[in-house]
Amino acid sequence: MKSSIHILQSIILLSLSFDAICGVAKNTKSVSQHSYVLSCGASIEGTDTNGRKWTPDSELIAPSSDFTSAKALYQDPSLPSQVPYMTARIFTSDCEYKFSALPNKRLWIRLHFYPSSYSSLDPADAYFSVTANGLTLLNNFSASITAEARTQAYFMEEYSVSPVSKGDPCIKFSPSPQHNGSYAFVNGIEVIPMPDIFQPPNFFGLSGETIDIRSSSVQTMFRLNVGGRYIPTTSDSGLSRTWYDDSPYLISGASGVTLEAGKNLSIDFPPNLPEYIAPRSVYGTARSMGTSSSINQNYNLTWVFKVDANFTYIVRLHFCELQFRKVNERVFDILLNNRTAQQSADVIAWTGSAGVPVYKDFTTYVGDANGDDELWVALHPSILSKPEYFDAILNGLEIFKVNDSRGNLAGLNPVPSKMLLDDKAVEAAGRPALAGLGYEAVQGIAGGVTGFVVVACVCIVLLNQNKKRKKGNEEVSGAANWSPVYGSSYASTMSGRSTSKASSHFSNLANLCRHFSLAEIKHGCNNFDESQVVGVGGFGKVYRGTIDGVIKVAIKRSNPSLEQGFHEFQTEIEMLSKLRHKHLVPLIGCCVESGEMILVYDYMANGTLREHLYNTTKPPLPWQKRLEICIGAARGLHYLHTGVSHTIIHRDVKTTNILLDENLEAKVSDFGLSKHGASSINQGHVSTLVKGSFGYLDPEYFRRQKLTEKSDVYSFGVVLFEVLCARPALDAALPKEQVNLADWVLYCKKKGMLEDTVDPHLKWRISPECLKKFADTAEKCLSDHGVDRPSMGEVLWSLEYVLQLHENPEATRFLKKNGR
Ligand SMILES: *[C@@H]1O[C@H](CO)[C@@H](O)[C@H](O)[C@H]1NC(C)=O
Ligand SMILES: *[C@@H]1O[C@H](CO)[C@@H](O)[C@H](O)[C@H]1NC(C)=O
Ligand SMILES: *[C@@H]1O[C@H](CO)[C@@H](O)[C@H](O)[C@H]1NC(C)=O
Ligand SMILES: *[C@@H]1O[C@H](CO)[C@@H](O)[C@H](O)[C@H]1NC(C)=O
Ligand SMILES: *[C@@H]1O[C@H](CO)[C@@H](O)[C@H](O)[C@H]1NC(C)=O
Ligand SMILES: *[C@@H]1O[C@H](CO)[C@@H](O)[C@H](O)[C@H]1NC(C)=O
Ligand SMILES: *[C@@H]1O[C@H](CO)[C@@H](O)[C@H](O)[C@H]1NC(C)=O
Repeated sequence: MKSSIHILQSIILLSLSFDAICGVAKNTKSVSQHSYVLSCGASIEGTDTNGRKWTPDSELIAPSSDFTSAKALYQDPSLPSQVPYMTARIFTSDCEYKFSALPNKRLWIRLHFYPSSYSSLDPADAYFSVTANGLTLLNNFSASITAEARTQAYFMEEYSVSPVSKGDPCIKFSPSPQHNGSYAFVNGIEVIPMPDIFQPPNFFGLSGETIDIRSSSVQTMFRLNVGGRYIPTTSDSGLSRTWYDDSPYLISGASGVTLEAGKNLSIDFPPNLPEYIAPRSVYGTARSMGTSSSINQNYNLTWVFKVDANFTYIVRLHFCELQFRKVNERVFDILLNNRTAQQSADVIAWTGSAGVPVYKDFTTYVGDANGDDELWVALHPSILSKPEYFDAILNGLEIFKVNDSRGNLAGLNPVPSKMLLDDKAVEAAGRPALAGLGYEAVQGIAGGVTGFVVVACVCIVLLNQNKKRKKGNEEVSGAANWSPVYGSSYASTMSGRSTSKASSHFSNLANLCRHFSLAEIKHGCNNFDESQVVGVGGFGKVYRGTIDGVIKVAIKRSNPSLEQGFHEFQTEIEMLSKLRHKHLVPLIGCCVESGEMILVYDYMANGTLREHLYNTTKPPLPWQKRLEICIGAARGLHYLHTGVSHTIIHRDVKTTNILLDENLEAKVSDFGLSKHGASSINQGHVSTLVKGSFGYLDPEYFRRQKLTEKSDVYSFGVVLFEVLCARPALDAALPKEQVNLADWVLYCKKKGMLEDTVDPHLKWRISPECLKKFADTAEKCLSDHGVDRPSMGEVLWSLEYVLQLHENPEATRFLKKNGR
């Protein structure tokens, strides 16, 4: 709430000061008329999760037009907020919005789209054009194709349009005449006055061309906080822009290292550079090539962007030196599409000192000569300048598309990558969507993801991601193993910092749980004797031990050679210390000393649930015990989802993370991957790189990289079948159709052959009603869409019902009749 008011205020301040500077008469009308933030199709004012107010749009549409409002039939779990996405304005013929009382200056126009079913309309039928003041913003535009290509449920297009010469600004929606049954729609519109951030003197065309930027409009294609993290609209420096992380655009294998301004360096804007150009947090982080001069000489630090052909682009590079102080220490060349745009760039020479921001604009035309629709931005040390260090630096990057001479900004609809189409086809055919997907395919999807909005979903937590080493061949590992585009630089900078970070944060951790000395720990587990190892996870090894002489504990030691996982370590401590539940593994304490990160838990005498199911010498668990264990685990997860002030998503629910104590009571463990859910995060959902284990992975989470507690429900559905069938979630040794447990059991269930999949030890010991109810519960958990899955509370209720069915006399009679 506060921050949005703050933003509004700064926008107003900005526009006022601009009025003052430009000598334009101050607008004395009320605040709301300085800008428009419209929730289209809504009947009342609404507030999004950032606290931003969205007002209804009906008063701004010219009367007598052919328009209706509609509500989306389906709420995608990835939507950050219901406002403005769940309502839409639908146009069946040309309709125009008119915006009055705006100052005569450059405007941001932001259009928000959520292609979904509105009343009886098919999102695939919506083809339309959008024009603003006669300028074509979109043409033959299909929001559903665009969303699909970006693997996003919703997205935004941002434009900066030049001031109108006369009359009020207007935005017109026109259904495409080339398609039968076509209609236009929009969910949200922002029209906000902005300062003129494009100043003509800075424009150099690569081929000597000049562009009349004052009378031109642009579309924002990319806006990146290079070497830094996602910056939401509410943290921008007054222009409500969103900045994304740059790593998905880097050419793999050569991603340099990230830099951050030290504590002793303040970012000081020079008098001629307004702070709204980019927030301090953009200038305070950067990417450089690395410390090795010889390596740096032999590669280009390169970002690649997919753009529309036949347009001129403004590439704005933001710089701020964070490491060096003297001229000629770091000098580099800037290349655009393999041509030198600037030789011997020296940030200190431009600014005079470290910590002073500067930006440079370049323009380049991307033609259609050989089907190239890519824009390459590359940095290379300037060998000729003989600088002290062969290195380069970049702090921020924006790419704007400039309208062509016909006043057009519209490109073609994107073509969804082949990988996505294949994935869809596979799903449609009802075959395993994930099991059949090789590692290359997974990489392809991650790598093929391009576009402006997608970055939002992939990048928010990238900095927080730590590599999880492969635990076994069924594990999906973390960011670094996922795809080379994300580079290893994050991991290395993270680990480089981890020790100091660990100690500086430790004082906080010590307040949360008991602190053990390393000597106590070593004493308790025979100096980490291999004979004490009870398990190995992504974090490191787990040892059996004792503390205080008698108390049995499990000691989880991070593998010092990995130098990974401090984040996970901290997460787990923070989570566990706040959580107390009968069905969660209790944390006793921790130890941070000499680079070691150790967690001490209550010892679970009976190990993991999986050890009791298959590949084991342990006696098979009776059905009733299995049900009780499932109920216990469900209670633990239910508590995580609802029992604390904010939802906690476990993210890695599987049979090896359900432990059994001496009484075979289930305890959920391993919160290293846990994420706080919706209500604690500004964006309203948790966006993240896909983590978790193959075979248990929610297909929706996999497709959209959006995480909700329903992802845990999916994984739990797999656990239920694993308990029933006593076989792994994925078993590559089996015939193809049986590899994926969930798919196989659901297939057999449909064919009425469910019994065939049941653990032979249980056959005919489960009554048909009981079996059916159990399998139905698991099946619901495995629904394709999160919204169709039950909550953990509902799962819990169903399982208790199954247990009652099992215990009641009728079931017993049935068992007797079958002679067991
Ligand atoms: C639209 O439908 C009419 C009749 O249903 C048909 O004659 C026409 O060819 C169709 N137009 C397009 C562009 O498909
Ligand atoms: C900041 O301090 C560190 C060590 O205290 C020093 O190495 C570094 O050069 C300083 N940076 C600047 C920009 O003053
Ligand atoms: C680019 O312009 C050329 C020549 O006018 C045209 O043939 C080509 O189709 C255009 N390409 C795109 C992608 O619009
Ligand atoms: C730049 O050069 C590389 C090879 O050095 C080539 O693969 C790439 O397509 C070129 N990019 C453009 C936009 O021409
Ligand atoms: C860097 O890019 C330029 C332009 O594409 C190319 O000529 C040069 O060979 C590249 N350098 C390296 C080391 O790849
Ligand atoms: C953009 O369109 C405007 C008219 O809307 C035109 O005056 C201007 O020259 C165009 N810009 C370019 C770079 O062609
Ligand atoms: C409109 O877009 C669709 C999808 O990209 C394309 O198949 C069709 O040819 C386009 N129509 C026109 C008239 O450009």
